Amino acid sequence: MTIEEAIEQRHAVRAYDGRPIEEQTARNLAEYVGECNREGDLHIQLVLDEPQAFGGTMARYGKFSGVQNYLALVAPKTEDFDEKIGYFGEKIVLYAQTLGLNSCWVAATYKKVKSAFEVGRGEKLGVVIALGYGVTQGKPHKSKPAEAFADLNGAPEWFVSGVRSAMLAPTALNQQKFTFSLTDGGNVKAKAGVGFYSKIDLGIAKCHFEIAAGKENFDWV
Ligand SMILES: Cc1cc2nc3c(=O)[nH]c(=O)nc-3n(C[C@H](O)[C@H](O)[C@H](O)COP(=O)(O)O)c2cc1C
Repeated sequence: MTIEEAIEQRHAVRAYDGRPIEEQTARNLAEYVGECNREGDLHIQLVLDEPQAFGGTMARYGKFSGVQNYLALVAPKTEDFDEKIGYFGEKIVLYAQTLGLNSCWVAATYKKVKSAFEVGRGEKLGVVIALGYGVTQGKPHKSKPAEAFADLNGAPEWFVSGVRSAMLAPTALNQQKFTFSLTDGGNVKAKAGVGFYSKIDLGIAKCHFEIAAGKENFDWV
């Protein structure tokens, strides 16, 4: 499965079959997490075989079941913390999808198990991402129309592709509060709207946009 196919096929999955992640898959994933941490100066951790975070009433209330693995999105407390964990978290989610794993971003409906991951000095935990083998593959979310995200009149094809890919991005409560605009110089400005976790959502949407639009076609401004 290519990353582009992963973007199409990824949907939030909350029910997992509880099977441990296969050894080679876990190794590949851990290696990729390490690459993202180096590139983004982050401290994202892959937590395997830890049933407590999603074992209590919060998770049941959130309709989660069988979650044994997750990513703890830990990073230094910088001004761009939210956007950065969104961007790199989604890169890992899409890579995980190519490895046959399902996922769900989770801000609220889980319990913080402090012994399961490290938070260094000057760092904090943002949100987590449940990972594993889904009971189903999930289903596509309802989306606002493309025009809600950008003015596509006369826009180049790469820009339209970027916007269409961002429409498939997961957002908190499916709020999709982000917009893209083309600058006179042919670059792209992305903006978060007002809402819970909207800066994390922006980072996620930028990750999708970049993959479909091609980084060689523009710079973020
Ligand atoms: C930052 C963020 C936080 C989220 N928090 C939760 C959560 O606490 N509980 C939950 O069930 N889903 C949560 N979600 C999943 C969204 O509800 C889901 O991604 C959205 O409805 C779009 O659906 P899709 O992922 O299938 O495209 C979160 C998603 C994001 C991006």
